Amino acid sequence: MKKIKICSLILASVMAISMAACSPSDFSIGTRGSEIHVGTVDPANANGKVGISMPSSTQERWVRDADNLVNSFTDANYATYVAFADYKIDRQIQDIKKLIKEGVDALIISAVDSSSLTEALDEAKQAGIPVICYDRLIMKSDAISYYVSYDNYTVGKIQRIIVRDQLDPAHNPDKIFNVEFVAGDSADSNARPVYNGAYAILSHYIESGQIRIPSGQNTFGESATPQWDTNIAKSRFKNVLGTYYSDGTTLDAVVCANDTTAAGVIQALDSDYKQDNPVLITGQDGDEINLQYINEGKQSMTIFKPGENEAQVTFELTLAVLDGETPNAVFLEDKDWDFEVEFDNYTFSNGSKVVPSYLLSPVLVTKDNMEEMLSKYGQTETENK
Ligand code: GAL
Repeated sequence: MKKIKICSLILASVMAISMAACSPSDFSIGTRGSEIHVGTVDPANANGKVGISMPSSTQERWVRDADNLVNSFTDANYATYVAFADYKIDRQIQDIKKLIKEGVDALIISAVDSSSLTEALDEAKQAGIPVICYDRLIMKSDAISYYVSYDNYTVGKIQRIIVRDQLDPAHNPDKIFNVEFVAGDSADSNARPVYNGAYAILSHYIESGQIRIPSGQNTFGESATPQWDTNIAKSRFKNVLGTYYSDGTTLDAVVCANDTTAAGVIQALDSDYKQDNPVLITGQDGDEINLQYINEGKQSMTIFKPGENEAQVTFELTLAVLDGETPNAVFLEDKDWDFEVEFDNYTFSNGSKVVPSYLLSPVLVTKDNMEEMLSKYGQTETENK
């Protein structure tokens, strides 16, 4: 993997930008979910048209992401068309077909279900429309041009390092720890690498018996959470607590794949966990409610994956592709960015091709460094519309 370090843009300037106040996109057109939200650039006088298909408008991060992308393309005089599929596979397929019909020059897609877009993307390919996978790798399609994301395995690794270091089984050899796993959506290609990263080193202690999983639900499939949904995570966890912890068994940690699942677990603990020890909870995304949980000591950490950076890479990559270039590692060399990106041209096979990928580095956030990280990365305040 070729590693390139790039520096300079001041990210702090994006801090505290409120989406509602500053967005050039017009998200007030129609209601979220079933409609295509058209940006403010007139397609007749635009440099081009870009279609953006996001999985959900109910999860904070995708609204932020869509907005970041729209801002960049709008500034460059591109007309934008944004659709939120709200976790409906068919709707996303229809969204993509509508965007193709609309005559977009490029498609930026974050899939609801990584393996269900083959046919829709064949249409894009036939129409000569390049497809960039945003954040989630789309499987089973050779119509994909590029993949831009954060390194998901590292996300899981950071989560597990926090759990390992805070429980510290190595220095407490006589202590047994009870841990549970709450993984992401099995339809999302990001979920398994996060889980694998989180499970890796802990597996040593699990095998030795020093870390126990009282529910026994320790495989990815057993602990997965459809749609990364807070309520599904909550009800599964209420069950786990009722069945395995109501006898007074102490729960030490819950390795939650992201913040929406962590929120469900925290709600279940609030109502159904009777022991009074602190329970270590992991997360990912830096959602507002979870930042609050971290401040209150209910959640131990989250991971920032600054959306502005991911959007910036996607935006510049899309422009390069639309210019007829075939970006590779060299694409990164003249960039004036204040964050690291790696080009990888061999790891991400989607079953149809190896997808050239640009990967950014996730950032650990705890109560101790939150202020600094907030000012550095400017996780924006987002209205969950
Ligand atoms: C994943 C993504 C996470 C989280 C989750 C739920 O694909 O990697 O950051 O946002 O979706 O939205």
